[in-house]
Amino acid sequence: MTATPDASLLDLARALDAADPLRDHLDAFAEAPGVTAYLDGNSLGRPLRDMPEKLATFVREDWGTRLIRSWDEQWMALPMELGDRIGRVALGAAAGQTVVADSTSVLIYKLMRAASAADRHRTELVIEAGNFPTDRFLAEGVAAETGMTLRWLEPDPVHGVTVADVEAVVSDRTALVSLSHVDYRSGALADMPGITAAVHEVGALMMWDLCHSAGVIPMQLDAWGVDIAVGCTYKYLNGGPGSPAFAYLRHGLQGVLRQPIQGWWSAADIFAMGPEYVPAGDIRQLLSGTPPVTS
Ligand SMILES: Cc1ncc(COP(=O)(O)O)c(C=O)c1O
Repeated sequence: MTATPDASLLDLARALDAADPLRDHLDAFAEAPGVTAYLDGNSLGRPLRDMPEKLATFVREDWGTRLIRSWDEQWMALPMELGDRIGRVALGAAAGQTVVADSTSVLIYKLMRAASAADRHRTELVIEAGNFPTDRFLAEGVAAETGMTLRWLEPDPVHGVTVADVEAVVSDRTALVSLSHVDYRSGALADMPGITAAVHEVGALMMWDLCHSAGVIPMQLDAWGVDIAVGCTYKYLNGGPGSPAFAYLRHGLQGVLRQPIQGWWSAADIFAMGPEYVPAGDIRQLLSGTPPVTS
């Protein structure tokens, strides 16, 4: 039996489509044969129509013709340039606070680890029991490595974490609270400014996982005082399978927090080739090794 769509609902859907400010961008995306409505952008975004040509030009010209000169001319600055662009269009972040690198999991580890070492009097990490597995597993790893205690939040599974949930577990022992902006199962949207303020009230740091909100939910990381944020670029930012992640670290914490995978790309002078490590004092300290340019 085929269900007959409710005519008034269909009219409503058509009216919403007609009023959608993103409507004119639909044609920029490649068609997928047999797919009428793609609702899995929360897992893998669609490619742009001009992607094959962009990739071919990259191989032919940037890599194939300019060869190693492309590092100096373009690629060295890409992690910061792309970070600034994502910050401007999707995060409400001023330049110099966002980089593109690694995977989300690796960046979460680096920043959780850095935040746990920020104040030795603070010995607790707060995390949600229903958070995405990678976030929980990484917190368990960081706690095992540092001896910190994990405090688990168990919010309402449909409505997600509230300010009151957070206020009930944070204290002057809290080093970091790490939560997802949008719950990957229920879609619940957390109150980013309210929760961030509650965490700051006890002097702790706040880290947001933006995987399910970057590119689809407006946000203002600078204005809301967010300390740290991490997200992927292959969902609503349509970067393609395995495209690198992004991390935001507010200006005031750069040169203060130090991420642990201190490879040469995080050094003050990448080509100094000196005897000891001197960290970059800016957002570049979040990098580790050669960035995945093709991705
Ligand atoms: C909320 C959330 N956090 C972290 C990750 C892990 O990302 P990655 O596989 O890029 O490390 C995902 C992956 O889908 C996710 O949905």
